[in-house]
Amino acid sequence: MVIKAHPEELTDRWRNSVLTIFDLILIHWPTGDNIGTYRALEDALNEGKCRAIGLSNFNSQQFSQIIEECDVRPAVNQIETHIMWQQKRMHKFLSKNDCIHESWSPFSSGSFNMFNDETVLDIANNHDKTPAQIILRFLIQNDIVVIPKSSSKDRMKENLDVFDFDLNRDEIFRIRNLDKNQSYCNWPYSMQYEAVNP
Ligand SMILES: NC(=O)c1ccc[n+]([C@@H]2O[C@H](COP(=O)([O-])OP(=O)(O)OC[C@H]3O[C@@H](n4cnc5c(N)ncnc54)[C@H](OP(=O)(O)O)[C@@H]3O)[C@@H](O)[C@H]2O)c1
Repeated sequence: MVIKAHPEELTDRWRNSVLTIFDLILIHWPTGDNIGTYRALEDALNEGKCRAIGLSNFNSQQFSQIIEECDVRPAVNQIETHIMWQQKRMHKFLSKNDCIHESWSPFSSGSFNMFNDETVLDIANNHDKTPAQIILRFLIQNDIVVIPKSSSKDRMKENLDVFDFDLNRDEIFRIRNLDKNQSYCNWPYSMQYEAVNP
């Protein structure tokens, strides 16, 4: 269940929610008051309203400001990540800071024609898997959490069926080389800091 709310709305959302405790609450994107917003999440955590708190769409500079000025280390930073923008430097940065790198739009929402990429198709053929499964497996093997979206029950099953095979080192290397450091949507603009400093 995903609920999007502004900090001042959070209390009402909690009061009216059927859930008594949330697993994870994220700031969806940086605001004019990142510290104040994150402190509201820290309060929620301290009051037992959620189990973990984190960020989304925070670049490394914005993330650093949070860990310098706040008390609770973000559990997650959910950022655009797929085979055409692999966020390699950000991944190292987040790992060093004990923060889970979560990919939004692991299929770049259908952009870049990645299901027809020759390298991906070739590797899919090696494993008798689909291109989508190869893309998800690559991200998972690189310790990136994925949240693919599908409106089809069959594709949801397909996207879950990625834990019975491993990509080998050569396959990982080949997919790593597909990286263009390129967003499919250029949103939010502040994340371009990571695209130009890969
Ligand atoms: N934090 C943020 O700012 C942010 C921003 C964007 C997105 N997100 C989140 O990220 C998640 C996924 O994002 P997304 O929907 O933008 O992109 P996505 O998961 O990269 O792509 C979804 C597209 O891929 C297709 N697809 C899914 N599985 C497939 C498969 N096995 N084979 C072929 N096509 C497949 C879907 O079509 P069908 O539906 O027809 O299967 C849909 O068109 C969502 O939970 C979204 O809320 C977060």
